[in-house]
Amino acid sequence: MDLRERIDRARVPRHIAVIMDGNGRWAKRQGEMRVAGHSHGVGAVREALMAASEVGVRYLTLYAFSTENWNRPQEEVDALMDLLVRTLMSELDSLNENGVRLNAIGDLDSLPGDCNGILQKAIDSTASNDRITLTLALSYSSRWEIVRTMRLLAEKVRTGEIDPADISEELVSEFLCTRGLPDPELLIRTSGERRVSNFLLWQIAYAELYFTDVLWPDFKKDDLFTAIIDYQNRERRFGMISEQVSPR
Ligand code: IPE
Ligand code: IPE
Ligand code: MG
Repeated sequence: MDLRERIDRARVPRHIAVIMDGNGRWAKRQGEMRVAGHSHGVGAVREALMAASEVGVRYLTLYAFSTENWNRPQEEVDALMDLLVRTLMSELDSLNENGVRLNAIGDLDSLPGDCNGILQKAIDSTASNDRITLTLALSYSSRWEIVRTMRLLAEKVRTGEIDPADISEELVSEFLCTRGLPDPELLIRTSGERRVSNFLLWQIAYAELYFTDVLWPDFKKDDLFTAIIDYQNRERRFGMISEQVSPR
């Protein structure tokens, strides 16, 4: 049976987050430069986005560039920023045709000016689309985000707008970059690495983690469907016991 047909549409994760990893290794295997891997990764983004949208996922969040990725060789960083600009320009019409609302999280001010400008334009141009929200994590790391949140909250306490006792899980969530997005139920990482690499540490508190050996440029719609089916076969207990969450 078609993998897509095996998905229970009533239990599709609302929000899937993906650590898109393995572009460099993919390129090396092809005997190409690392940047060729990143270029081919754009096709995988298209596959994942369309697959998610087809089965009713409402939020897809992709780790595209981490705070730590600034430490890569300058030519790779430049190539990635250039690819981002070119991709945003070439894909904008398709995002609008497919009802995709673009969003971004991270230290966007640290991106080169043209990059940030094009990004903001694409975000504005897709703002009224409501089929699926595609969030790109750019110059993002979870610890950076949490420190930023602490500063914002500390400032509110200093000015007397809030009392320390008002700080709750809900309030912290409101001050994270992901404000307004539900927590991801499923986190996928490609390329066989089994780590989280500073991604959405607060938000994935109860996410199901799914690791696949597929390198990101090879990721296809069926890989997303396989991950969703795997997710649907798990029992999410949230600290309770099996009988409480699946009563017989
Ligand atoms: C992921 O692929 C893309 C980014 C981090 C920007 P990598 O570039 O990390 O690929 P590998 O891990 O070296 O294979
Ligand atoms: C994580 O991948 C960041 C992105 C996918 C953008 P990395 O390839 O940078 O992660 P590490 O350094 O291997 O953990
Ligand atoms: Mg990597």
